[in-house]
Amino acid sequence: MASITIRNLDDEVKELLRRLAAENGRSMEDQARVMIRAAVEGQFGSAGRIDQIEKTLRELTSSQSPATPMVAVSSVRGILSGKRILLIIGGGIAAYKALDLIRRLRERGAAVRVVMTAAAQEFVTTLSAGALSADHVFTELFDRQDEHDIGHIRLSREADLLVVAPATADLMAKLANGHANDLASTVLIATDKRVLMAPAMNPKMWAHPAVRRNRSMLGKDGVAFVGPAKGEMAESNEVGEGRMAEPLEIVAAIEALLDSRPKPLAGRKIIVTSGPTHEPIDPVRYIANRSSGKQGHAIAAALARLGADVRLVSGPVGIADPAGIATLHVETAVEMKDAVEQLLPADAAVFVAAVADWRTQSSAGEKIKKMAGEGPPALQMVENPDILAGVGHHKKRPMLVVGFAAETQDLVRNAEAKLAKKGADLIVANDVSHEDGSPGVMGGDRNKVRIVSKAGVEEWPEMSKDEVATRLAALIAERLKTVVV
Ligand SMILES: Cc1cc2nc3c(=O)[nH]c(=O)nc-3n(C[C@H](O)[C@H](O)[C@H](O)COP(=O)(O)O)c2cc1C
Repeated sequence: MASITIRNLDDEVKELLRRLAAENGRSMEDQARVMIRAAVEGQFGSAGRIDQIEKTLRELTSSQSPATPMVAVSSVRGILSGKRILLIIGGGIAAYKALDLIRRLRERGAAVRVVMTAAAQEFVTTLSAGALSADHVFTELFDRQDEHDIGHIRLSREADLLVVAPATADLMAKLANGHANDLASTVLIATDKRVLMAPAMNPKMWAHPAVRRNRSMLGKDGVAFVGPAKGEMAESNEVGEGRMAEPLEIVAAIEALLDSRPKPLAGRKIIVTSGPTHEPIDPVRYIANRSSGKQGHAIAAALARLGADVRLVSGPVGIADPAGIATLHVETAVEMKDAVEQLLPADAAVFVAAVADWRTQSSAGEKIKKMAGEGPPALQMVENPDILAGVGHHKKRPMLVVGFAAETQDLVRNAEAKLAKKGADLIVANDVSHEDGSPGVMGGDRNKVRIVSKAGVEEWPEMSKDEVATRLAALIAERLKTVVV
């Protein structure tokens, strides 16, 4: 297919496209492709004939027709749409990431007003922050000349949430001890809104007893925190805890704080597995499958949106970890089983991963050489552990066990057999055959599933994997509600 160039769209459509692309971790062109495909398949199914597809595209792009795909997706504007964030940028190296954070928030429809400390201006300019936020940047507590002087009280109250990123040791100390000697610290004391801090500092600073004390005090005062993470520090070759959370993780934390929807899964720990497993043959070759992790990751995110404490165990995938979700990365089926067992007990477990049924008996220590005249090597296969059945019959079995059945034939019969054999409460069955040349369920963005339980079989219409995830998360919340704890 030729590449798509996004040009001449009006601003609102372009912004929507940009935001959806960011939310889904795609380029704008890929997002446009997915939407066009969804619009076409929505009318004819993936087996749509080419003349029907052409007719639809003509209708969708003609000036008279309503913009069907845009209307359909505009409902995903999200929690941040119309929200007002006051972002306080502190004086640390990570201030450069705060600029990206402004972009990410605006992509999601939030208005961002920026306060910068004097130290922050040593690292990034008010010009950049102003250009990205499309607003004046506030720096001075006393500035009667400033035509934008709206005062620290209004600044702090005219926001839905205050975010400090990076939160320096100094800003944490000031707020923990009630200091108010510049605009940033005064705004933080004057606010009646929640405060989220994203600390960033050298690991030795973060470990210092004074910083630990302030962190603990701020937590008791109701300040929310995201990060810091472990990793390499920007300014030195040091590695440790103190790295600021990534902008998308901060966005997820902001969304969680501003999300006023009910949280029926609050206090529930749920394990989700996702992606394929790779079973090594030798150091460079492995046996894999086509699972992309999109469905499992979407389910993890949907459960977290309902308040669950989600632990995601992911096989090797090419997509990002869902923001704000504790993710364990594994490679093989055996590693996945060990990770899941270590996470028990849990309230529920959802096994979405496409775990390899077999692995080679032993992986060669060196790359297997192709020898002239010797033919291909015979691979001796052994069975992998059955993670779903193991947990379904485990002494620490979660209250609710959900398995996925990817089948190419006898979908429901195989799913029903799996339900009984594996000790699962629900099986989400999907047909992973794709004879018509479409991308198919594995790797694609859409899914059509049947929910198989002792009560019978419920068929869901074809929808996006995000929609399947949202609906399944609601079903899990419903099922857990009826389980007596
Ligand atoms: C190069 C450099 C990097 C710094 N990085 C950090 C940092 O990552 N975190 C931190 O807490 N302080 C850091 N500091 C120290 C702060 O800039 C200093 O404590 C300052 O007073 C903080 O002011 P503010 O909290 O008003 O922004 C750094 C200082 C320098 C010179």
